[in-house]
Amino acid sequence: MNTTAFGSFGHLAGRFAGSLWPGGPDVAGESWARRWLTPREQEIWARMSGPDRRHAVAVAHRAAAALGNADGAGVSRAAIVAALLHDSGKVESGFGTFARVAATLVAMGYDRERVASWAENENGLRKRFGQYVSHDQIGARILGEAGSDPLVVAWAGEHHLPPDRWTVDSAVGRILKDADDD
Ligand SMILES: [Fe+2]
Ligand SMILES: [Fe+2]
Repeated sequence: MNTTAFGSFGHLAGRFAGSLWPGGPDVAGESWARRWLTPREQEIWARMSGPDRRHAVAVAHRAAAALGNADGAGVSRAAIVAALLHDSGKVESGFGTFARVAATLVAMGYDRERVASWAENENGLRKRFGQYVSHDQIGARILGEAGSDPLVVAWAGEHHLPPDRWTVDSAVGRILKDADDD
């Protein structure tokens, strides 16, 4: 079993329980997130699921706190946006919670790179599994197309890679990774 890319089963079960509630962030969290985003980033944000936006707001507040202020005042906008949009590539698989868990289990049992290749080489459910597992590369692509800051694009693409493969500044990458609980 490959448990490195997406974490342990127990952790996954906790994430699953949290994602059963479909709502997005509260009003304050939603407006706090949107104020950092460009109009094109807001379009991507609006396509993200409620649980993914809740996760994003929590990660961004933790990252902002580690960078000096949980509210984001005085913190690099790019770092906050990188935290908010790191999982935004999940919009393309269009998966609900149960299918996400199935996709994650597939990714744990199969070679992750092989499942990711299904995004290009397969159709139907396998293609969507592949897209879900490749949400890092998909996120980097859609954020690049949206003209996002290089840090935002790079972190979307690198957030499941080991630190020795990061191109982002390692101190910033460490803060963003530590803030991400999935
Ligand atoms: Fe991710
Ligand atoms: Fe995440």
